[in-house]
Amino acid sequence: MTNQYHTTQLREFDALHHLHPFTDHKSLRASGVRVIVGGEGPYVFDSEGTRILDGMAGLWTCNIGYGRKELAQAAYDQMVELPFYNTFFKTTHPPVVALARKLAEIAPDNLNQVFFGSSGSEANDTAIRLIRHYWALKGEPKRRIIISRKNAYHGSTIAAGSMGGMAHVHAHSYPVYEGFRHIMDPYWYGEAKDGESPEAFGIRAARALEEEILAVGPENVAAFAGEPVQGAGGVKIAPASYWPEVQRIVDKYGILLLADEVITGFGRLGTWFASQYYGIRPNLITFAKAVTSGYIPLSGVIVDDEIVAALTAHDDDFNHGYTFSGHPVACAVALKNLEIMEEERLLPRVKEFGAPALAKMLAKFAGHPLVGEARSIGLLGAIELVADKRTRRRFADPGRVGLICRDHFFREGFIMRAVFDTMVMAPPLIWTQKQFDEAEAVIGRVLDLTLGDVAGEVAA
Ligand SMILES: Cc1ncc(COP(=O)(O)O)c(C=O)c1O
Repeated sequence: MTNQYHTTQLREFDALHHLHPFTDHKSLRASGVRVIVGGEGPYVFDSEGTRILDGMAGLWTCNIGYGRKELAQAAYDQMVELPFYNTFFKTTHPPVVALARKLAEIAPDNLNQVFFGSSGSEANDTAIRLIRHYWALKGEPKRRIIISRKNAYHGSTIAAGSMGGMAHVHAHSYPVYEGFRHIMDPYWYGEAKDGESPEAFGIRAARALEEEILAVGPENVAAFAGEPVQGAGGVKIAPASYWPEVQRIVDKYGILLLADEVITGFGRLGTWFASQYYGIRPNLITFAKAVTSGYIPLSGVIVDDEIVAALTAHDDDFNHGYTFSGHPVACAVALKNLEIMEEERLLPRVKEFGAPALAKMLAKFAGHPLVGEARSIGLLGAIELVADKRTRRRFADPGRVGLICRDHFFREGFIMRAVFDTMVMAPPLIWTQKQFDEAEAVIGRVLDLTLGDVAGEVAA
């Protein structure tokens, strides 16, 4: 797009006309926005010409990096050929068929059909309706409760927001929909008892699911929903014992498993889906974000054969869908994005290079006085900022120090996100050693700057 405004005008008009997501609007108006105008590979550029290393892949999204002309060409070609047609009334089109087939090929074996949307929130809303519809079709309409976890993020629409477990989201004007329960999240660093091993904690956190199933009555439970790695909740990586135990419990009570792979899908852990990484067997996988590397919105739910069998055994409508379900341009871009991931071997690259490089880099900060824990899995990483690393004591006023740290990163030309006082990162899959070296230098500087700001609060 040709930019017709100067930076000062963009800031002014943004304040006048644009309401941002998840934002303190008062303080945003006081501080003003940064204007991002371009991107190339692992970097974005602001309107003042500053090059910024993007440690968040946009928002857990831009897995193949910025500026890939092949994706633009795929969108152009599809727009010229067929820019839009709906998939409602017994019609389809080539890109949606090809993409559904491709997703069935890369998803776990028994997940073979895809319902498309445009955002992760929509995908989760669809999954919630499919889960409840499935049980109604099976003659068990009482099974409506979906159990998820505290600090889960499943989206911002009212149903997905209710399934999510973020108290600050619930507190905000929603009546949280009935039929959702939230159990503890598998956050060893924050929740383990003194001396409790990750292994033992993982089992305890998984057993919270069984306790909840028994508390509400197994006959009322429809599904368990979880992000294989909690992303927006602070890159919380479950101990190795957790997911096998969850799978055992889900199987024992015959409830469905929904894996929300909106962040973990498409290579983040070096596999197409994190379900494959963990060896779990979800009945539904929701995806969005990196399916197109964020070049255009697209999301969906991949559904297993059992649910599809229930749907196809009846001749009533499933009364649900979006105008843009299976948008042809978005599907064409997704196909090209997945093709690039395969051609450039980006998934094996995460396993062989990216994941160990991130782990090695983060480990160097484990000894810093501010750092309680530095952890990673695949290309998801987190640094816990604490007031006392020995006792894991947090800072007063959670989130304050995280924001100080995030603002230093911003000024230093690096993007890392603050989840309260946990700094998180999710670099694109294309980082080379050069980007890891740049990140290491910035993180070291910024931790020292942040320590300088809060030195009086940090235990010696
Ligand atoms: C795990 C997970 N699920 C769902 C969503 C919601 O996706 P969207 O913002 O596209 O609605 C997100 C967004 O970050 C997410 O991280």
